Amino acid sequence: MRKLLTIASAALLLLLSLPSPAQYTGKKTADIKLGPWLQAVTDHSFTVVWLTNAPAAGWVEIAPDDGSPFFQCDRPKFYQSIQGKRPIDTLHCITVDGLQPGTKYRYRVMQQGVITAPDDKRIVFGIPTGNDPFRMKPYEVTTLDPEAEEFDFCVINDIHGKDSVFQALMAPIKEDSIDMVLFNGDMLSSMDSEQQLIDGYLRSACKLFATDIPFYNLRGNHESRGLFSYNHMRYFPSTTGEAFYMIRQGPAAILMLDCGEDKPDSDVSYYGLMVSDQYREKEAVWLADIVKSKEWLDASVKIALLHIPPSKNGGWHGGMEIQRLFMPILEEAGIDLMISGHIHRYSFSDKGVRADSFPVLINAANEKHYFHVTRDGISAKRIDMSGAVLKTYEFKK
Ligand SMILES: [Fe+2]
Repeated sequence: MRKLLTIASAALLLLLSLPSPAQYTGKKTADIKLGPWLQAVTDHSFTVVWLTNAPAAGWVEIAPDDGSPFFQCDRPKFYQSIQGKRPIDTLHCITVDGLQPGTKYRYRVMQQGVITAPDDKRIVFGIPTGNDPFRMKPYEVTTLDPEAEEFDFCVINDIHGKDSVFQALMAPIKEDSIDMVLFNGDMLSSMDSEQQLIDGYLRSACKLFATDIPFYNLRGNHESRGLFSYNHMRYFPSTTGEAFYMIRQGPAAILMLDCGEDKPDSDVSYYGLMVSDQYREKEAVWLADIVKSKEWLDASVKIALLHIPPSKNGGWHGGMEIQRLFMPILEEAGIDLMISGHIHRYSFSDKGVRADSFPVLINAANEKHYFHVTRDGISAKRIDMSGAVLKTYEFKK
């Protein structure tokens, strides 16, 4: 009997020493650290990414843009799923699907931090935190619409972590009625840490526009460098799950082409880790298929983004592989304009120079280009950091 009492006492003591859900109810355990930033918007979906200051399970709530109070009813909730299970992490990446094309939605992000003692295997959540639509205007996102008459986008590249340049170029974006911003590579010189990404441009992107205007972060050769580079697609997901994909909006289709590294994979600066040759071969197979797709063929205006511009006259290994693998396909694909970067200075090559069948426009490292697309063609503006328009173009069909 005494033995039984001793066991019961020990069990009671153990129970009292364990945290219980009630013990932690009311504790705030995670806040938004950065974001959200909109990614991979399509005509039926969008993806929201954000960071929390502690591990948490997140979700996104959406509401129609109908003027109703956000708290009028229980709004649909969307969760991240890792093979059917919600992750607990500081990086949150949630896709909202099943939407109507060309439609504006309101959204907010929420998370619940986790309280666990080091020796406790249970999951105990703190109180939910996140965007409060009572205190702030909910964020907005508009799905793409292949039937839209017009399409406006902005291109920047080669920022190389210079946040002051990024801010100067991006400050007016929200007022300029831009549908999306395309980063055309080398936004950092090397991807070494999350903090570097935040300081380099991501904090400013979220502050200036990325909560409501999506950006598409196409890799340049420098985004393959550094041990954090493996995370690029986790922070900047694409619709294909690969670093190459297509955007279809209004009259335009845009090929977002991954350039790979510029030097041979065997170069000592890559530590034997690069297999760009293999990846470009895979990309070329995808490219040959996508330019035969109805989506591509139906687009009135066809654009390609590629960080390293094509060069007919030899050059570095990466450029030569682009020439060998991509250019024969692109020359036959009806491209109206290619937009590149990499060389850091402005350049325009009419058809017949860098490519036989289309012009190649290279945006400088400290400038941006605005593009307005209709079924009749493309109007473009070259703009410097002060906002001055340096040149305008018309690419008529
Ligand atoms: Fe580059």
